[in-house]
Amino acid sequence: MPAAPFTGRGALRFPAFNIGPVRVDPPTALAPMAGHTDVVFRTICRRLGCGLVYTELVSAEGLARDGRRTWDLLETVPEERPIAAQLFGADPVRLADAARRIEDTGRYDLIDLNMGCPVPKVVSRGAGAAIMRDPALAERLVSTVANAVRLPVSAKTRAGWSDDEVNAVAVCRAVEQGGGSAVAVHARTRLQKHAGAANWELLAEIRQAVRIPVLGNGGVLTPQDGPRMLAITGVAGVMLARGALGNPWIFRQLDQVLRDELPIFPTDREIRDLIELHLRGTVDMFARHGFPRPAAQAAAYFRQQLVSYVRGRRGAKSVLRQLAAMVDVETTLAIVDEHFLGQGSAARAPVSSAAGVGGGTSLPSAASRSSAESA
Ligand SMILES: Cc1cc2nc3c(=O)[nH]c(=O)nc-3n(C[C@H](O)[C@H](O)[C@H](O)COP(=O)(O)O)c2cc1C
Repeated sequence: MPAAPFTGRGALRFPAFNIGPVRVDPPTALAPMAGHTDVVFRTICRRLGCGLVYTELVSAEGLARDGRRTWDLLETVPEERPIAAQLFGADPVRLADAARRIEDTGRYDLIDLNMGCPVPKVVSRGAGAAIMRDPALAERLVSTVANAVRLPVSAKTRAGWSDDEVNAVAVCRAVEQGGGSAVAVHARTRLQKHAGAANWELLAEIRQAVRIPVLGNGGVLTPQDGPRMLAITGVAGVMLARGALGNPWIFRQLDQVLRDELPIFPTDREIRDLIELHLRGTVDMFARHGFPRPAAQAAAYFRQQLVSYVRGRRGAKSVLRQLAAMVDVETTLAIVDEHFLGQGSAARAPVSSAAGVGGGTSLPSAASRSSAESA
């Protein structure tokens, strides 16, 4: 057998895997997060080594109406591929129509169906987590969509509705039966929302019950949690949400620990420069989406991201005290520099937005961000 080419890096301890033709390498994914996983943040995560990214959940009905705001949520750039578009809805025909529209853009690699969102607005319409209560419906939704598009179709679900209704094994089997190419499981119930322990034993059970790749999700907060989840559960890939907020470097670190390398932590300078890149990318995105005052509106939107970036770090308290004063890019960076790096922003040249993130492909414009609070 010919020797493997020398890459200068160790091999992955847990291999890359495929969802249909889509290679997930390394076996890590950024979970969908409403209000966070826009084109800018996703591109940053991919640059830092994340294997697969997801859009936040978008409404199949919104796409059927050709809503401009919905299309803005689906803005994507080639650099972030492979990328999954996540749809929510409970009507198979609408979902299939929305999936076809997404496929027609030629910009997506995977259609993911949301079967886990706990938000009442979504559940009351029979969508999101409500679908878990009816595995036959889950199967029908997947098969209708899978028959409508050539792209692989996956689903993201939860452990179950409540402690008394932990039926993820049945739901995942239904997804496989319907022709789904992968399933991602948030190992908490709908009633748990995002709190409490994630049930990794259940992930191991699901992994045994289906042949399609399983992405395990829930409670991955450190680089070491990644290989731990993969080893304990046997799932194909590890998906993380909150562990990446304000810390996209976790994907670089996951890649490192999966290769038995020591994880490299970002320096203050690296953090500060990424904050600038993320913020400027957000302003550009707001401008593309037709916001009337993109700099001010993006700065306001960015405050929640900034909270995540500085939380737990030196200087965080004084940065957070001044959140209200961050009204545009310059005021935001001046405060970050003064309190986080201990220097004025005049001391350094701005990071060019030409080297920025998430620019490029504009889709029709929007009025505001994020379709649902949290799923
Ligand atoms: C702010 C926020 C928004 C979310 N939005 C979505 C979403 O749009 N679609 C979805 O399937 N899950 C959504 N989730 C759930 C996450 O994808 C993930 O399943 C959950 O946070 C558990 O992973 P973690 O323990 O790594 O945070 C969201 C979670 C948060 C915190």
